[in-house]
Amino acid sequence: MLNTFSSAISPLLDQRMPGHALPAGLYTREDVFKADLDVFFRRHWIYVGLECDVPEPGDAHVIDLGSSSIILLRDDDSQIRVLHNVCRHRGARLLGSGTSIVSKLVCPYHQWTYELDGELAFAPHMGTGFDKTCKSLKPVHFRSIGGLIYVCLSDNPPKTSARSRP
Ligand code: FES
Repeated sequence: MLNTFSSAISPLLDQRMPGHALPAGLYTREDVFKADLDVFFRRHWIYVGLECDVPEPGDAHVIDLGSSSIILLRDDDSQIRVLHNVCRHRGARLLGSGTSIVSKLVCPYHQWTYELDGELAFAPHMGTGFDKTCKSLKPVHFRSIGGLIYVCLSDNPPKTSARSRP
């Protein structure tokens, strides 16, 4: 994994000494922070909450993961969903931070309206050729293990085994 860091970061990693503090740049540099987000937060399973955080249909909880924002919610069929908090029109955030109760997900910008399963239900002023079926909210890979919700932002999440779950 370490070879995925840029050549500018590798010297910092090489300076690590057992029993000593890490080089300051590993705490303070913007490129290290971005690499950290990319290597760990965008590629691995991360615990984000509990099923009981959204106990009823329409309960929604926004979670920030690095620069990404996702919505953990319970849909009308009482199924857990995890969706990117990004409108498919022009990328506005659908919900603000924290918890809320919603019957639909309505974008505050131009009122594109999504069902709780992420399907686009309403998109005003889009013309006759517009195909809303390909504009559903993007789902996030997730697993629920004993009520604990893990997500992976990658399109190809790492496989899990019985020993290294989620
Ligand atoms: S950005 Fe969401 S409706 Fe336009």
